Amino acid sequence: MLQPTERDRLYRLLIVEDERGQRRTLSAILAEEGFEVTACGTAGEALRQLEQQAFGLAVIDLRLPDLTGTQLIEKMRLLNPDILVIVHTAYGSLDSAKLAMNLRAFAYVEKGGDPEELIRQVHAASHWHLERYAADLEAAVEARTRALHEANLTLQQEVGERRRAERELALHRDHLEEIIAQRTRALEESQERLRRADRLASLGTLAAGIAHEINNPLGTIMLAADSARASVENSEFVVEMLDSIKRDVERCGSIVRSVLQFATDQPADRWPVALNGIVRHSLDFTREHAREQDVELIDELGEGRAMVTANPNQLEQVFINLISNAVHACDEAGRVTLVSQDAGDRVRILVRDNGRGMEDAAIKQAFDPFYTTRLGRGGTGLGLSTCHGIVTNHGGEIEIVSELGRGSTVSVELPKTSTE
Ligand SMILES: Nc1ncnc2c1ncn2[C@@H]1O[C@H](COP(=O)(O)OP(=O)(O)O)[C@@H](O)[C@H]1O
Ligand SMILES: [Mg+2]
Repeated sequence: MLQPTERDRLYRLLIVEDERGQRRTLSAILAEEGFEVTACGTAGEALRQLEQQAFGLAVIDLRLPDLTGTQLIEKMRLLNPDILVIVHTAYGSLDSAKLAMNLRAFAYVEKGGDPEELIRQVHAASHWHLERYAADLEAAVEARTRALHEANLTLQQEVGERRRAERELALHRDHLEEIIAQRTRALEESQERLRRADRLASLGTLAAGIAHEINNPLGTIMLAADSARASVENSEFVVEMLDSIKRDVERCGSIVRSVLQFATDQPADRWPVALNGIVRHSLDFTREHAREQDVELIDELGEGRAMVTANPNQLEQVFINLISNAVHACDEAGRVTLVSQDAGDRVRILVRDNGRGMEDAAIKQAFDPFYTTRLGRGGTGLGLSTCHGIVTNHGGEIEIVSELGRGSTVSVELPKTSTE
């Protein structure tokens, strides 16, 4: 782009004329025309001037004492490439004048003629310069406008992109927060399950140890009671006592068996079975008990034919336990409903009752072995812990959802083997 000083340069005019009188006259005339005139007597002096500052125009005599005019013009161009040169020389040096034209001088004015001609040519050169200057300015303005326009477009684009990015970010943030909340919930739940499984596993080891130790003395007591009974047939009282011992030993034996069942980590044989069939079988087992308690058993299992790979005896035990718990929880107009649900690659059985329900604290403890609220009424507290062990061993999950006073739903979810 053109600098402001560039315009001043266009009006700077260098006169190179060895003859003093001529030099003065020319200087006066051209200064009068509004140019900033510097006049030199030799080529050397002229080149020194050009080294110091740029000139727009030069009026040059071709015959100089130190260099020829053509040599001077060449050197001048090296220092000041777009200087416009007007050759001002005496009549008779036409060849030199031709040479000057070859050197791309702007004009050739013969010395001694009308000074108006020189003035005219100098103005013409100046005008030419100004036009170029104006054109350069215009181009510069145009380029600048274009650059501004482009910058503006880029800016608008950037603003648009930024807004879009901000919107996406906001969406993403909401989504992320939700994902984090979900993960946290899932993590808490699985931690709770892990804690429970851990506790049950160590309790299982303990219980199994105790049960094994008790089993042998129980057998010995039973044997002793049997043989004592055989030898005291004539004493009714002793027979009665021995029978009572035998009954209690029997009961202890059944508790020990339950404990061993809960604690067993021996994988039982498994094969593909229809889950609904197993649940219906469990219903048949518990029907009598339900009738006694005046509780209605409702089969809403539907047509589901989901297969699970399981040990049917163990699974039956699970559902018998759950149904009998539900029956026990009912007071009047009791209803226990069995529902089957499809859950993708899993199948879910719900055992739902409209009984007493459980508090949150009770739900947390319900799977603990020996936790029971039916102490002295046939409760052992081993039902749910055994169910938990069996279901977990089958790769499934067991959960309780309950509301105090309104009923409970225990759900058992097992991986499907295949569906028809
Ligand atoms: N469907 C249910 N409704 C209300 N309470 C239940 C239900 N199932 C289990 N419980 C509670 O959980 C306790 C533990 O159950 P469980 O392990 O089967 O032992 P038990 O039946 O011998 O008491 C029960 O004593 C009862 O308080
Ligand atoms: Mg029970």
